[in-house]
Amino acid sequence: MHYLSVEGNQKLKGTIAISGAKNSALPLLASTLLSKNNIMLSNVPDVADVKTLLKLLENLGSTTVQKDNIVSIDTTQVKSAFANYDIVRKMRASILTLGPLLSRFGHCEVSLPGGCAIGQRPIDLHLKALEQMGAEIEIKQGYVIAKAPNGLKGANIIFDKVTVTGSENIIMAASLAHGTTTLVNVAKEPEVVQLCEVLRDAGLQIEGIGTSTINIIGTDGALLDMQDITVIPDRIEAGTYLCAGAITNSGITITNIIPKHLESMTLKLKQMGFGIEKDADSITLLPAETIKACDLETSEYPGFPTDMQAQFMALCTQANGTSIIDERLFENRFMHVSELGRMGAIIKLKGHSAAVEGNTQLNAADVMATDLRASSALILAALVAKGTTRIHRIYHLDRGYENLEGKFSALGAKIERLEE
Ligand code: EPZ
Repeated sequence: MHYLSVEGNQKLKGTIAISGAKNSALPLLASTLLSKNNIMLSNVPDVADVKTLLKLLENLGSTTVQKDNIVSIDTTQVKSAFANYDIVRKMRASILTLGPLLSRFGHCEVSLPGGCAIGQRPIDLHLKALEQMGAEIEIKQGYVIAKAPNGLKGANIIFDKVTVTGSENIIMAASLAHGTTTLVNVAKEPEVVQLCEVLRDAGLQIEGIGTSTINIIGTDGALLDMQDITVIPDRIEAGTYLCAGAITNSGITITNIIPKHLESMTLKLKQMGFGIEKDADSITLLPAETIKACDLETSEYPGFPTDMQAQFMALCTQANGTSIIDERLFENRFMHVSELGRMGAIIKLKGHSAAVEGNTQLNAADVMATDLRASSALILAALVAKGTTRIHRIYHLDRGYENLEGKFSALGAKIERLEE
């Protein structure tokens, strides 16, 4: 197993290009199950989660070719609708095959993803919506067994909660259904928007893209004429590097991004005293005179993303004063608190709220990555700690950050991947 060794007390400098969004690439790859032709996706991040989904799609009978950041995929020969536990357990997002498989084949068996480090993460809303579309669903031996022998039917669905992959799954399911589906309280994340745009470009009649109500006229089972796709930039990777600049109070630039997708984060960074200069596809972060404490609450897009909560928590340890961070989406997304504590951070938890004491000298330690974003917070903390931090279990990071050491090194960080 590998670990990361990160030297502390660092200043960063320079420009890096942001990769394609993992959380957009995953639903887009799943959506290729709805296609009648071969598709080329570019700007696909070369990360473990993408490889896992490609493996699952191959397992179902697709042909995939991955070279650098381009993936070519042909799902026309897919015959199986069985997504097995061995692959699904590696990545929750495998559940994104449920909607497309059921709408294409009228039946499917997809392993239940199980719990994960950031919370219980049920899929009840996905299943309830499919049932409203006429699916018969049972859970047997850890699998979701879904049947809709005469195809899924359009329905009026109101999501009880905003769910990103739930919205994506049902949008894909509704694409080949009979009749019109109206979805209310749909997630508005840029990744959901890109999926809708790709389906629209494939000829699907879909209205309300980017709003919380979406209407889809299903194709009565006809496969879509999908076009080639360029995956949007990863706003969470971008935000993570902005936080790296911020925690070391350095000037850095990130390119290949859509600044609008990062607005909730850049607003917070400005409130904390950093300079933010935006271009059409880049952002420069300028050092703060004094880093001010901040209060933040995670919520759905366009609110502050839960996927940036851990990184901002690390940053708040260097602010002037106490910051309050409220995690509103996942009940257990504070696993990084105890690891940051091992580095000297003073963070008090009360329910879903964390009080983070600022002006704290962090010290290097051996720490453990617990989930993808928690792990990136540990790298950020390590950049300002006294001494050399060793971060273990970094396979979590490889799930979602492309060329991590390469990008940090390009900014001048002293970071190395070493064998345990
Ligand atoms: C997506 O997860 C992302 N994953 C997550 O990114 C992200 O943290 C999350 O959205 C929130 O933005 C992908 O896009 C692949 P949800 P998802 O369904 O879709 C509850 C990362 O680090 N809920 O929007 O699984 C749920 O428990 C990852 O890249 C139900 O109750 O999240 C949570 O409280 C981690 N029932 C809330 O809704 C359901 O059926 C939002 O979850 C579904 C969700």
